[in-house]
Amino acid sequence: MSIDHDLSTDQLHRLLGLVDHDAGDDPFPVTGWDAVVWVVGNAAQTALHHRLVLGMELVAYSGPETGNADHHAYVLQAGHVRFVVTGGVDPASPLHDRHRLHGDGVADIALEVPDVDRCVAHARSAGATVLVEPHDVSDEHGTVRTAAIATYGDTRHTLVDRSRYDGPYLPGYIAANGPALATPAFQALDHVVGNVELGRMDEWVAFYTRVMGFTNMAEFVGADIATDYSALMSKVVASGDRRVKFPLNEPARGRRRSQIDEYLDFHAGPGVQHLALATDDILATVDALRARGIEFLPTPASYYSDPALRARIGDVRVDIEELAARGILVDRDEDGYLLQIFTRPVGDRPTVFFEFIERHGSLGFGKGNFKALFEAIEREQARRGNF
Ligand SMILES: [Fe+2]
Repeated sequence: MSIDHDLSTDQLHRLLGLVDHDAGDDPFPVTGWDAVVWVVGNAAQTALHHRLVLGMELVAYSGPETGNADHHAYVLQAGHVRFVVTGGVDPASPLHDRHRLHGDGVADIALEVPDVDRCVAHARSAGATVLVEPHDVSDEHGTVRTAAIATYGDTRHTLVDRSRYDGPYLPGYIAANGPALATPAFQALDHVVGNVELGRMDEWVAFYTRVMGFTNMAEFVGADIATDYSALMSKVVASGDRRVKFPLNEPARGRRRSQIDEYLDFHAGPGVQHLALATDDILATVDALRARGIEFLPTPASYYSDPALRARIGDVRVDIEELAARGILVDRDEDGYLLQIFTRPVGDRPTVFFEFIERHGSLGFGKGNFKALFEAIEREQARRGNF
């Protein structure tokens, strides 16, 4: 694979579509993603999967051997992405209760902030639920200041200031030396999508703008697209420099049952639908992951043969035939284009999945692909008998 793992700041900006931002008057400055924390049914095997298939490195660990009798927590990294996969060890662990309800999924989208107290004070005054008050946690590597606020469903945002800490993850974790067992498949986290209940998307857009000072990005999927093709409505909020982007979906009344309704049923409520991982060589990523057994959503052949596609996307860096051979989708807007592809759900329930994305100037999320994509998703949904 030709993926470059030592990205310059400029390259990272291009990869993620970042914009300049003055944090000075930002009421809730966010520097970036800290970690995506998952609760899964078998953290030991999920961690091994991520090393073998996603090419992540195991860098830290907490569990019975470190004095944490309740659960396993494996901290995995690839490029700028950090996942923490957790699973109950003690039969009485609350993680089992969460897993019983939601299945494998994301419990916490932790964000890196330079001033935890300022963020929490602002969030509280804007009506957010503070789940964990700001406090210090320390060990021989230094001190982390952290707090947590609630977002949609049972999801939370832990806020982390690790500027005074040089340990492998957080106090309570020991360094682990678990090399990646394959070439990393991505370099950065681009966006995390939430599915919320019917009629509540605008409430959550307002939450992120009011509580976290996020801005509403231009791209949205409204009722026009929703009813015919996607049966969902979508808006996007983002942090000041767009490092952190949160598309929010709600079900819409379509011709058939919405895929968002299916998610809400099987996840037992709102939660994270997909994580988009940025790569600078999506062809290499898809080839490698497919060789390791990852299944992607098929794209109809008609998507590539449609003359409207060539007219819509213009010149992209590879031939359409190369994209067609892999099922990679293309979208273009006034700023540039993007290449993207979606996996099947990663766990046992039809809930959370991954997207891989290669941006070339476009700040969008693939709105132009909704029709093609959702036709493909609906075929999958029908195969599961939930359509
Ligand atoms: Fe996406």
